Amino acid sequence: MMGIKMDVFLVEGPNKLSGEVRISTSKNSSLPIMAATILSKKKIALSQLPHLRDIRTMRKLLESLGCRIEIHGDEHYIDPKSINHLEAPYELVKTMRASILVLGPLLARFGEAKVSLPGGCAIGARPVDLHIEGLKKLGAEIHTDKGYVLAKAKKLVGCEVDLPFPSVGATENLLMAATFAEGTTKISNAAREPEIEDLALFLCALYPELEIQGAGTHEITIKGISKDSAEADIVYTPIPDRIEAATFIIAGLMCNSDLAVVNCRPHHLESFLEKLKAMGAIFDRGEEYVHVKPCKEKLKGIDIQTEPYPGFPTDVQAQMMSLLSVVNGKSVITEKIFENRFMHVPELVRMGAQISLDGNKAVVEGNSILEGAPVMCTDLRASAALVLTSLVANGKTRIQRVYHVDRGYEGIDKKFFDLGAKIKRLNEPME
Ligand code: UD1
Repeated sequence: MMGIKMDVFLVEGPNKLSGEVRISTSKNSSLPIMAATILSKKKIALSQLPHLRDIRTMRKLLESLGCRIEIHGDEHYIDPKSINHLEAPYELVKTMRASILVLGPLLARFGEAKVSLPGGCAIGARPVDLHIEGLKKLGAEIHTDKGYVLAKAKKLVGCEVDLPFPSVGATENLLMAATFAEGTTKISNAAREPEIEDLALFLCALYPELEIQGAGTHEITIKGISKDSAEADIVYTPIPDRIEAATFIIAGLMCNSDLAVVNCRPHHLESFLEKLKAMGAIFDRGEEYVHVKPCKEKLKGIDIQTEPYPGFPTDVQAQMMSLLSVVNGKSVITEKIFENRFMHVPELVRMGAQISLDGNKAVVEGNSILEGAPVMCTDLRASAALVLTSLVANGKTRIQRVYHVDRGYEGIDKKFFDLGAKIKRLNEPME
C-alpha cells in the first residue's frame, strides 16, 4: 500500500457550534432523476446537484452509456441523445448500488438493458429481486447471467404491481419504466419517500402529457405515454437532503449549540423531529429551516425503530445512536430495514460509548464519557456518526477512510469548520 494517500479527518473536541448551515441538494433524489434523463431525447438541465462521489459515479455511468454531460456553474446539462451503449458495467455498479436505477429507463427507452448485479455491500445483502419482478410484470423478459441482469422488452404494458416490501429503488425503477408503458400501471405498497415524489414531479415537468397520481402515497398510478411525446424545456432542482439536515440537527443538539439548519424541508423529517421533541430538544421550525437551541437540561433517552417513510429513517439511525450515547438514560434502537447496519457500534464503543448489540437491537446506555480515538469509517451513515461523536469527544479523533462520508455529504468538514468546529482534512499515506 506504499505511496497511496487517503483523506483523513482530524477533530479536536469538545466543540461548540454556532451560526447557520445550508443543506445541499438530496443525493437520493438526484441519483434517480439523473437516471431518468435516459428516458429523454433532448438535453436536460439539472440544477444544484451536490458535489459528491455518488453523483460523479452516476455521471460516469451515464457517460459510459453515451450521454454527453457538461457542467456550467450550478447546472449539469445531460444530453442523452447520443446513448449508444446499453450496459452498466460491474466496475461502476460495484461502487454504487443506485446504478441499478438505469435498468428501468434503459428498458423503457431502448427495449433492452444489461446491468451488473450490485452484489452485497457493507450494510447487508441488498438484493434487487423486487426491481426485477416488477419489471417482469410490465412485460420485460429478464434473466441473470454471469453477474449481470439482462432485460429485454419489445414493449412494456401497464399492469398492477403489488410490492411485497415498499422498496425505494424498486418503486423508482417501476415509475420510470411505467412512463413509457402502454396503458395504466398501478404500484401498490409503493415506497412513500419524498424522493419518489420528487422523481414523479421531475417526470411530469419533463412530459406535460404524463399523469402520475399518488406519488408519496402507498399507491401510485401512472398513465403511460408514448416515447415520442412532447418534452418541455426544464431546469430541475431536486429537493434538499433530509438526511444531511437531520445529521446537522443532531450535531447542534450534541454540542448543545445555537444552530440554524437552513434550506431544508422539516416536513420530510416529522418522525425524527417528533422523537427529538419527546427527548426534550428545543428547536424552532419554519417551512425551510430548523433552528436548534441550547438546553439547560440534558436530553432524555428514547426508543427508536427504523421503518420505511414516514417512519424513522434508517439513514439517520447511526447518527441518532451518537446522540443517544450522550443523553440521560437508556435507549433501545431497533433496525428494521438493513440486517447489518450496526458497523459503527464497535467504533463508537472505542470512543467510550456504552452500546451492546442483540440481533437487530442496540441498547445504548447514555451518559457516556467520550474520548477521542483513531477510528475507521465503514459506510456512509456510520461515518457521519463518527464525525458527530468526534465533535463532542474529549481530545483528538483521527477518522480514517473518509471517502465513505464523501459519498453522501458535500464538504461535511468545511461545513462543520465554518460552524466553528476544530476539524481538519489531511491527505495522508494509507496505513
Ligand atoms: C434507498 C436509499 C438508501 C436508504 C434506503 C432505505 C437511495 C439511492 N438510497 O436505498 O439511502 O437507506 O432507500 O430507506 O435512495 N430489498 C429487497 N429486494 C429488492 C430491493 C430491496 O429485498 O429488490 C430490501 C433491501 O435489501 C433492504 C430493504 O429492502 O433491506 C430496503 O431497500 P430499498 O428501499 O430498496 O433501498 P434502496 O433503494 O436500495
